[in-house]
Amino acid sequence: MVISVLKETKEHERRVALTPDLIKMLIKKGFEIVVESKAGETSYYKDEDYVAAGAKIVDKSQACASDIVLKVNAPTIQEIGLMRENTCSLSLLYGYTQPEVLDAFNARKISSFGLDAIPRISRAQKMDALSSQANLAGYKSVIMGSNALGKIFPLMMTAAGTITPAKVLIFGAGVAGLQAIATARRLGAVVEVTDVRPETKEQVESLGGRFLTVESEGVKIEGGYAKEVSSEFLAKQKQLIEDKIKDADLVITTALVVGKKSPILITKEMVGSMKNGSVIVDMAVEWGGNCELSQVNQTIVSNGVTIIGESNLPSLLPVNASQLYATNISTLLLHLANKDGYTFNLEDEITQGCLITYEGKTVHAFTNQILQKNN
Ligand code: NAI
Repeated sequence: MVISVLKETKEHERRVALTPDLIKMLIKKGFEIVVESKAGETSYYKDEDYVAAGAKIVDKSQACASDIVLKVNAPTIQEIGLMRENTCSLSLLYGYTQPEVLDAFNARKISSFGLDAIPRISRAQKMDALSSQANLAGYKSVIMGSNALGKIFPLMMTAAGTITPAKVLIFGAGVAGLQAIATARRLGAVVEVTDVRPETKEQVESLGGRFLTVESEGVKIEGGYAKEVSSEFLAKQKQLIEDKIKDADLVITTALVVGKKSPILITKEMVGSMKNGSVIVDMAVEWGGNCELSQVNQTIVSNGVTIIGESNLPSLLPVNASQLYATNISTLLLHLANKDGYTFNLEDEITQGCLITYEGKTVHAFTNQILQKNN
């Protein structure tokens, strides 16, 4: 089995799908590995490092012609055109946002697996790329936000007076939000948090955050994810936030309802009520944003409030993000294949959960559901 690592083509992407140490491990298991020239350059892995690990450096067309193609982002239509029929692709895919990529896979009967669709079950934890990347992104959101703030985070008692701690308000206590709480607390901020899932209260408090409880039902939870949030809940939450946001120095938003446009939790008027010099980092910007004013990959200033809309925070930490992603993708690879060929079982929960196209059809139920809704 020949496994290839393609160089990322998406703008501002600095991660790479496999690191040299994991290539060594896969070669020991009998796989042959080829790496597109300069694939690791932006995450500080040189071609020589891959060669030393046992991989062969090749050009794009040779890399695409392998048995299993690995990438961070989905292969481009051009790359899919260079792939052989009946082979496999493993990457973050978000298939429901790019039906043309699924069509291209189907035209060549390529089995595509989306690491964004790995089920969040214990057996699949090591493959869960959304969690590994969101964790790093949560950390980076606080670092970026604090950097844009004209203030320090901790309480400081000096001969020249006392500096009170910064106030950080976080929306969403999922993977990214919890890491943001931990990071902001470590830096000494006072942290308040809102989430629609009541079970997150305990997790927030265990990290030293204060949970803001919305007194309302109207949230449908499925498989640990918020699937529906009623307008009544959102209205009550808005009331609660309106007061808190006026006082916040840094606001980090991570609110996500899977497969839906992100809920707008910070309106233009709310931004207008915030303190001059305060900062918002809208992590959900790629899915529409939690703040009405945020813009993808732009930092804007509105009424003295800086709004950061960085959509690829993990890529700003390419070393760690590639390390963790490489573990996720190689674990999935070993779940699906061995040195002699593909071994995947369509009845297996993990395989079924992340197999998006197969034998010329889009087979992933959730992806089909969203695609049909959008048509
Ligand atoms: P997650 O699913 O683990 O957490 C999302 C949380 O939002 C859940 O706890 C959910 O209950 C909560 N939520 C839903 N509606 C809410 C509401 N109205 N108010 C408060 N909380 C609400 O997701 P994860 O992995 O933590 O990612 C969070 C967001 O960050 C996603 O939108 C994801 O796409 C984005 N993200 C952005 C990155 C970037 O570079 N900008 C990198 C990684 C993730």
